[in-house]
Amino acid sequence: MSSKAAVATKAVHTHAASAAQQQPAHASVWPPLTEEFPYIYVNGQMLPKNKAMVSVYDHGLLYGDGIFEGIRIYNGKIFKLKQHMDRLYRCADQIRLKIPVDRDEMIAIQRECITRNNIPDGYIRLVVTRGYGGLGLDPRRCPTPAVICIADQIRLYAPEFYETGMRVIVANRPKTPVACLDPRIKSLNYLNNILAKCEAIDFGCDEVIMLNLDGFVTEGSGDNIFMVKGGTLYTPPSEDGILEGVTREFVKKDLCSALGLTCIEKHLRLDDLLTADEAFLTGTAAELIAVSQIDQHDGKGTITKATKIGHGEGPITKKLRMKFREIVTGPNVPEA
Ligand SMILES: Cc1ncc(COP(=O)(O)O)c(C=O)c1O
Repeated sequence: MSSKAAVATKAVHTHAASAAQQQPAHASVWPPLTEEFPYIYVNGQMLPKNKAMVSVYDHGLLYGDGIFEGIRIYNGKIFKLKQHMDRLYRCADQIRLKIPVDRDEMIAIQRECITRNNIPDGYIRLVVTRGYGGLGLDPRRCPTPAVICIADQIRLYAPEFYETGMRVIVANRPKTPVACLDPRIKSLNYLNNILAKCEAIDFGCDEVIMLNLDGFVTEGSGDNIFMVKGGTLYTPPSEDGILEGVTREFVKKDLCSALGLTCIEKHLRLDDLLTADEAFLTGTAAELIAVSQIDQHDGKGTITKATKIGHGEGPITKKLRMKFREIVTGPNVPEA
C-alpha cells in the first residue's frame, strides 16, 4: 500500500472510531454496516442494506435538498398512511419536487418493504431527494429525484421514560422562522433541530423544546408538544413554526374525542408550559411520552432553572397514552 493510501485508510479508521465514541447509551442496537437486512428500496431496486446507496452527487446529501417521512407499522398496518402520503406529496410541491412515483406506487413500495423484510411492527423511512446533479445548487441540473424506502426498527427514548416521563431542556437556539424555511415542510434540512438537540445532549438530556423568535413554544426536535391545564389540552398552532405532526392530529382528533377531552390550539409562552399541570410530546418515532421536568440553561454550561411538571406522568397523559396503545395494538389500526 502506498504511504498516501495508508494515511487515507488510517484517517478513515480514526474517523470511524471517533464516531463510535459518540454513540448514544443504547448504541448496542446500532447495526453494523455489513448487514444485509433489511432490504431497502432505492430507485426501483430492492437492495441489501450494505449495498443500498445513492450517489455522492445527490443533492439530498450535498444540500439537504429533499423531503422525508417517518411512518409506523403496527400489526402489519401502515398507521395513518393517508395523512403521511398527503404530507409527503404536499411537501414535495412546496419544494417544487416532482416525485417520480405516484401515491399508489409509493404505497406499494412501502408494503413491499414490509413484506420482504417481515416487519409487522416497525418504522418506515421514506426519503425523496432532488437526485444526483452537478456540484452547484441549481435543482435544474438534477434530472431524476431519488426515492428511498427503508423499513426497519426505531427507538428514540428509553422505555422507562414512558412510565416516568422525561426531562427536557429549553433550547437557547431559536426555531428557524417560518418565513425562512417553513417547519411545516418535512425537509432534509434538520440542522436547526439537531443543533438544538445538542444543547439537550450537553446536559445529559434526550430532548429539547424550541421557542420561535417571538418567544412562543413550538415543538421538540422531532416531536410536537402538548400541555394540560385544568383538564384541557393545549398545543401550539402550526403558524408558530411546527411540523403538523400526524400523531399530533391523531391526539387532537381521535384520542380526544374517544376520551371526551378538549384540545385548543393556542400560542404558548414558556411560562404557560412551566405552569402546566401536565405536558407531553408526540411523534411517529416518540409515540406519546410525558414531560416530567423542563430545564433552562444559560448557554455557558449552567442550568439556571429546573421546573417539575406535575409528578411524573400525569393522569390525562396516561389515559391518552393507554388509549394510543390500545388502538395501535388492536385489530383496527387506522391507515386513514
Ligand atoms: C420536527 C418534528 N416535529 C414533530 C414531529 C412529529 O410528527 P409526526 O407525528 O408526523 O411523526 C416530527 C416527526 O418526525 C418532527 O420531526
